[in-house]
Amino acid sequence: MYIGIDIGTSGVKSLLIDESQNIIATAHHSIKISRPHTGWSEQNPEDWIEATKATLDSIKQSHAKQMSAVLGIGLSGQMHGATLLDKHDKILRPCMLWNDTRSNFEAEQMDSNPDFQKISGNIVFPGFTAPKVSWVRNNEPEIFSRIHKVLLPKDYVRLWLTGEYVSDMSDASGTSWLNVEKRQWSSTLLDACELNQNQMPRLVEGSEVSGQLREKLAKRWGVSNPPLVAGGAGDNATSACGMGIIKEGQSFVSLGTSGVLFAANSSYSPNPKSAVHAFCHAIPDTWHQMGVILSAADSLNWYSEITGVPANDLSKELGNELKAPSGVYFLPYLAGERTPYNDSSIRGAFIGMSRNSDRKTLTQSVLEGVVFAIRDNMAALEASGTQLRSLTAVGGGSKSHYWLKVLATALNLPIDIPAKGDFGGAFGAARLAILATSDQAISSVLTSPAIEQSFEPDKEYIDQYDEAYNTYKKLYPAIKSVTK
Ligand code: XUL
Repeated sequence: MYIGIDIGTSGVKSLLIDESQNIIATAHHSIKISRPHTGWSEQNPEDWIEATKATLDSIKQSHAKQMSAVLGIGLSGQMHGATLLDKHDKILRPCMLWNDTRSNFEAEQMDSNPDFQKISGNIVFPGFTAPKVSWVRNNEPEIFSRIHKVLLPKDYVRLWLTGEYVSDMSDASGTSWLNVEKRQWSSTLLDACELNQNQMPRLVEGSEVSGQLREKLAKRWGVSNPPLVAGGAGDNATSACGMGIIKEGQSFVSLGTSGVLFAANSSYSPNPKSAVHAFCHAIPDTWHQMGVILSAADSLNWYSEITGVPANDLSKELGNELKAPSGVYFLPYLAGERTPYNDSSIRGAFIGMSRNSDRKTLTQSVLEGVVFAIRDNMAALEASGTQLRSLTAVGGGSKSHYWLKVLATALNLPIDIPAKGDFGGAFGAARLAILATSDQAISSVLTSPAIEQSFEPDKEYIDQYDEAYNTYKKLYPAIKSVTK
């Protein structure tokens, strides 16, 4: 038996699988986000522990026998958050999360030092870890002076599980302190932030062992021999492991709150100029690129709140047949944008409305706007050497077949949806636990799910969506100066 634990932003999910990767049990426990000021987004790290404890207690209750046979645990986690500990492992302040943008100024300053893009392979985004810690240095110097360790969210949970300070290459890639090509901390980048390597956790690959479950916790969950804990990975890399996306040419698109276009790479291929994320993957000698848009399914959720109609119903109103583009342009920058613009102050817009623009037209325009933003990401990945051949679609938004048809046609790529099942971060993390504790080959563990349905580009509309995208591309520069 193996356990995967995903420390998500809205909750912790734990899942138990057997050695044939059948899902035996899952449990979820919600956690809150606190937003004390505009742009701030924080969680109390203790809440991750409590939520993890609740999920594992619940699996122990329903599946005590299977739980006693756990050999390995894998961790997946929301990336980038800065958990600051003093020398007694006491939490120094609430964790600033990946979607906390208060460190805009620090991020810009750091990014103007060419070492950051050169060594870390990425823009220093305000969401990344390093600018958050620099914000603490500038605004809470007393706390900064007491930092003994900086841990990412899932690595704080690992400290509680194992007593070890360890991170993995994929999650560490999102800190701005990692030399992503060499897969090691960069003293140059840490130095630039007045930090040092002793304040960083030890690094392992996601598929390696990072430690062993503490006796006390093994007893609590009735596990006979304390299981080993795998390195695990950031949530996007573990999701990719869950879907077997580990080789050049394999990619997925996630229509979650944010949208992610993820491609596995056999070599390190950075492209910070287009705000592409180039990170280490969860397995050795493998990297991945990622374009991130900040409001994907969240754009439809926002429109659903405005109209008072549930998001699913809005999309159903459009019917099943793809239509020509709506003619109204929606720019989905409700929370700023990462790829390709790295612009946290840009805001969204509807452009081109007429007296005939009804609710359906605007729903269509919201779905199209998100797809066009994803096409911007595809162009950014192409400019960094990645040619997408097809995409596996995941995330809440992928339940809308209309949305997937727009995506297939506007990207001119087949879009696959996997057969029913759970291939998310927790499942990927459990698979990494299998790799860390057995001698099974990576390719036999990280396999791809069966495809339930494929959406092909609709030839009748490819040119029209192309034309609409070309207009869409002109709109960011046009609204940039008026939405700040
Ligand atoms: C990735 C990112 C998000 C978080 C969400 O760069 O910021 O996908 O990992 O949990």
